Amino acid sequence: MGNALLQLCYLIGSITFIMGLKMLSHPDTARKGNLVAAAGMIISIFGTIFLFRSENAEHLHNYVWIFAALAIGTVVGTMAAKKVQMTAMPEMVSLFNGMGGACAMLISIVEYRRVMDIVAATPSYVPETGKMIVVVLGMLIGTVSFAGSMIAWGKLNGRIKDRTIPGGQMINFVIFAGLIILVAIVVGGFFPAMPALFYGILTLAALYGVLFVMPIGGADMPVVISLLNSFTGVAAAFGGFLYNNPVMLTGGILVGSAGTILTILMCKAMNRSLKNVLIGSFGGAKAVAGGAAKEQGNYKEISVSDSATLMAYAQKVIIIPGYGLAVAQAQHVCHELEKVLEEKGVEVMYGIHPVAGRMPGHMNVLLAEADVPYEKLLEMEDANEQMGTTNVVLILGANDVVNPAAKEDPSSPIYGMPILEVEKAEHVIVNKRSMKPGYAGIENELFFRPKTSMLFGDAKKALQSLVTELKSID
Ligand code: TAP
Repeated sequence: MGNALLQLCYLIGSITFIMGLKMLSHPDTARKGNLVAAAGMIISIFGTIFLFRSENAEHLHNYVWIFAALAIGTVVGTMAAKKVQMTAMPEMVSLFNGMGGACAMLISIVEYRRVMDIVAATPSYVPETGKMIVVVLGMLIGTVSFAGSMIAWGKLNGRIKDRTIPGGQMINFVIFAGLIILVAIVVGGFFPAMPALFYGILTLAALYGVLFVMPIGGADMPVVISLLNSFTGVAAAFGGFLYNNPVMLTGGILVGSAGTILTILMCKAMNRSLKNVLIGSFGGAKAVAGGAAKEQGNYKEISVSDSATLMAYAQKVIIIPGYGLAVAQAQHVCHELEKVLEEKGVEVMYGIHPVAGRMPGHMNVLLAEADVPYEKLLEMEDANEQMGTTNVVLILGANDVVNPAAKEDPSSPIYGMPILEVEKAEHVIVNKRSMKPGYAGIENELFFRPKTSMLFGDAKKALQSLVTELKSID
């Protein structure tokens, strides 16, 4: 009876994960989707705690440890989620992703030690190859994901700089080859009971995670983050195999496949192959070095009142949001600007680049928060089709995603990345605080082009002034 109930909990958990994921695909249902999946997770956790029975009918008994850990995790998680600034979300996602990897790593270590205890008690015992594969690969992938995510976290919050290590690719290759050999030795049953080999894999996997993320930087971070996400999913799925736990398996497979699909989409958005991202160190140290050198010429400034006049008499305005809009928390006033313009008969739309901001879907989430209708958000290709018939493009804190070097300069580290082709419009107004480069660390020639005018200032203040100015125009 208990087991049937537990399986029911797992079934409910698995279904809610799938439903939640589906609901996450639209801003209107995303919040509810998150709650639905969380409810399924709670049911699965409590089902396990109270209904689980081992092969010899033992139930869990270390409740103090379990509930202490649950309480600490709940308090820390809730506080972190409540306190986090929208702009720090990508870092938090990386950190949480790393914690998932660490859990998979710890599960594998515990299980390996259990196997070793049996070997110590019964020297004739030979561990099952299948089990060893799951334990060792779960640990390996979880450790790479944990170490890599910690580096990604440091990079996103600026604590760790992109660093190309001399001979790094060769070192990574040697570590990778070493890992394959060690894994084959341990799971192949040659020396399964030699803990030094197991912990050797752990050390090399941690080193590999650090070294493979370290040189990747600049514009390529979205790909790495989604790749690490898929690693954590796969590592969790190994845990599901290990414990024959369907809900862990479903959760792991969903995260693993969603992460893999996202990695493919991100590669497409950057027009890059995964291999190229992993060994090319695109937009990293190279980009920063290349960025500062070029002399670009003069740029034109525009006042708030001239910008407002230009937009008030336009037929169509496309707004391009970027990371700076999120930093300024200017999404609400941006929506207000859109409404004021529409009252004046101006058609307003938003052009969304897939890697604008610092996390997949960042701009969609930001604008949904301000109740911008979803139909107004154009994907990059659709926005580019509209550019030719647009009077004014207003760029709000975006930089790399509108950099023409991606199309025109083969020596640029972002060459080949599709961009929002704002120059097809009649006028381009760029709002940012200075002439500083964006995330990829490279200069943007767009700012010096004849069609472009710079509207300097914090996005929120600039938008507030624009709204006031527009309201005063009859
Ligand atoms: P960025 O190229 O990073 O440019 C943002 C610009 O916003 C900066 O040049 C900055 O210029 C300006 N800014 C900052 N604070 C501002 C404020 N308060 N008011 C007005 N402007 C402000 O942004 P993007 O165009 O959105 O491109 C995203 C970049 O991040 C890409 O390179 C992408 O590959 C990378 N990335 C993306 C992701 C994902 S998944 N989306 C993840 C990691 C990295 P000032 O300092 O002069 O104001």
